Formats: sequence, structure tokens, C-alpha cells
Amino acid sequence: MTTSFIIAIDGPAAAGKGTLSRLIAAHYGFHHLDTGLTYRAVAKALLDAGLPLDDETVAERTSLDIELAGLDRSVLAQHQIGEAASKIAVMPAVRRALVAAQRKFAARAPGTVLDGRDIGTVVCPDAPVKLYVTASPDVRARRRYDEIIGGGAAADFDAVFADVKKRDERDMGRADSPLKPADDAHLLDTSEMSIDAAFQAACELIDAALKKD
Ligand code: DC
Repeated sequence: MTTSFIIAIDGPAAAGKGTLSRLIAAHYGFHHLDTGLTYRAVAKALLDAGLPLDDETVAERTSLDIELAGLDRSVLAQHQIGEAASKIAVMPAVRRALVAAQRKFAARAPGTVLDGRDIGTVVCPDAPVKLYVTASPDVRARRRYDEIIGGGAAADFDAVFADVKKRDERDMGRADSPLKPADDAHLLDTSEMSIDAAFQAACELIDAALKKD
């Protein structure tokens, strides 16, 4: 028997899926897990301990120790942690360990919202609602750039754009669980859509699925 209603949200970096996921979780009173933070936490633990980022056995051991309750977005948001996270995210042993923890989280009642790259395809393939949130690389780079400038730091748009493209290649090109929409995912392109409009569209899909549940 299903005790949890699962909403799976996937998409590339800076597409707006984090903001959307938080709004949805708050609206429905569901638990939210940004699964990117689990990969970031492993990367940070390795960096802090001076351990290599290319040793799968070491990275797996670290992944098995990650506590979901201790994930702190403000600490893990740093750029170099994201870069390191996308490197260890290609390792099957790391993914196995983190996916097991993510599935456990997904089972929490009354419902959960998980966002990442492989939620609808691998972590929760039976989720009754799957969203694939995307936007053009240019729009995503612009948002990331504005965020950095808004935070008072300096940034170069071309460098941010190159970075978004590099991250896409790594996320979409890896052999294990590459980023791609599940066959039954609803596509939400936020290139020319406000976050409010995306939220409304998502709520319509979720309300319809909840009625069927
Ligand atoms: O969404 P983010 O930038 O916090 O993710 C950091 C890295 O983690 C990203 O490059 C890809 C990886 N990731 C993943 O492989 N699978 C997920 N479900 C979430 C993130």
C-alpha cells in the first residue's frame, strides 16, 4: 500500500526546479528533498577531508554516511562544491548509496517532493506526478548570473554560460542515470514562464493526479 504521494521533479541546473519544488511542497504540506544536496554533501565531505574525488570506494563510503537531516543549502550552494558534486555523481556506487537514502525519504507520509536529475527515471519511477522543468541554456545562465550579481559578488556572463553548458554535458552525458525526461513526465519550459505560472501549471497536474489517487 502506498502511504506517500510522490512528486518527482527533474531538470537541468538553474531551470527553476528548486524554487518550484519548495513552493509545491509548502502548498501541499509535503516533505521536500533537493537530491542535488546529497551529491553536494558527499563532495564537500571529500573536499574537507582532503580525499580524492576520483576514488569510487572512498566516495561510496562517504555516501553511506550522509545524513539527510543535516543537509544545509547555504553551506552546500558554493560553486566549487557543485563542480565536485557533478564529478562524483558519475560513480555508480555513489548513486546506489544515495538513491537508497532518497527512496527511504520518498516514502514519508503524507507525501514528498523530490527534485534532481533522475527522480522520475530511476529513484521513483512509479511517482504519480513527474515534472521535467527546463529552460534554454541562455535563460538559465542569465538567472544564475543575476543571482550571483544580486548576492553582491562579481561574475562574467560568458563564463557562467560556459559553466551551465559544461554542467549539462556532464549531467546528460554520463552512462549511469543521465539527465533526461521520463517517458511519462510533463514538460514545463520556464524560458518564458514566470515561476508563478509554472507553479499554477504544476498544481493543476498535481490536483488532477491527487483526485485519481
Ligand atoms: O542540482 P545541483 O546543482 O545541486 O546538483 C549537483 C550535482 O549533483 C549535479 O551536477 C548533478 C548531480 N545530481 C545528480 O546526478 N542526480 C540528482 N538526482 C541530483 C543531482
